[in-house]
Amino acid sequence: MNLDELSRLYDFSGRTVVITGGAGILGGEMACALVGCHANVAILDRDPALAERLLARIPTSVGRFIIVYGDVTDRDKLVAARDRILAEFGKVDALINAAGGNNSRATTGPAASFFDLPPEALRGVFDLNLVGTVLPSQVFGEVMARQKSGVILNLSSMNALRPLTRIPAYSAAKAAVSNFTQWLAVHMAQEYSPQIRVNAIAPGFFLTEQNRFLLTDAETGNLTARGQKILAHTPMGRFGSPEDLLGAVLWLLSPASAFVTGAVIPVDGGFAAYSGV
Ligand SMILES: NC(=O)c1ccc[n+]([C@@H]2O[C@H](COP(=O)([O-])OP(=O)(O)OC[C@H]3O[C@@H](n4cnc5c(N)ncnc54)[C@H](OP(=O)(O)O)[C@@H]3O)[C@@H](O)[C@H]2O)c1
Repeated sequence: MNLDELSRLYDFSGRTVVITGGAGILGGEMACALVGCHANVAILDRDPALAERLLARIPTSVGRFIIVYGDVTDRDKLVAARDRILAEFGKVDALINAAGGNNSRATTGPAASFFDLPPEALRGVFDLNLVGTVLPSQVFGEVMARQKSGVILNLSSMNALRPLTRIPAYSAAKAAVSNFTQWLAVHMAQEYSPQIRVNAIAPGFFLTEQNRFLLTDAETGNLTARGQKILAHTPMGRFGSPEDLLGAVLWLLSPASAFVTGAVIPVDGGFAAYSGV
């Protein structure tokens, strides 16, 4: 291996990558990086207007991208999105399941005990994170099964390893995403092709819209007690920034990880490794 060969592994020219939740903070960062590495990127989100905020920073001179409407909890809408993506790019080489998140109504706290969390809020979190990973894996994984090659990358979380306080549904849903990652990796390799790989990353703590209300005070912007505890438990002493994920994402999508499947890779500043002592 030399530097030229290494660079070629990360040249995504002619490869199509679908990113669900691609208009979000983390998915959007991945979209920009992949277009920058010459991929054809389909940004799939339930509010495509949001993806327009990426237009200012997406490197348009290299890879190509399209913005496609899709709801990861609705199979028919995903099939329509798949048809549009295939019409545009002709194939799907990789899927990143980045749509996901918690819901403040499924979070315990002074206003709501565990016993009062509304069933529809709990179901919504399972639907978005688990069903919203399984359905796109069916719809786009079928294309990969026909092609006999492809890569699926799921977004798990630190709370899949050990649940965090206050967010029971989100913790359980992400644990299920990690479990499903391993299941699908085995199934795809044995039933369709060993050239179809399925992995996940488990990000630590990245300050984004879905957790800002838990980690910072809305009025002062200061860290909440929970935010302070997280930083105290992160050996690197900071929150992640979206670009911190890119090394792991590009590696798992590229042939550099050709023998890696069923893995869940923490990108967490050491959070998972630290016992607290
Ligand atoms: N941020 C963190 O610290 C962290 C840590 C670990 C794991 N993660 C995971 O990383 C992934 C991305 O998180 P993020 O922080 O980038 O969140 P984000 O900014 O909220 O991005 C998620 C995107 O998914 C979209 N979305 C929501 N429901 C959808 C649906 N049914 N169909 C299609 N798109 C939908 C959202 O649209 P709306 O804005 O309209 O809801 C948003 O654009 C999630 O799976 C999250 O659980 C995040």
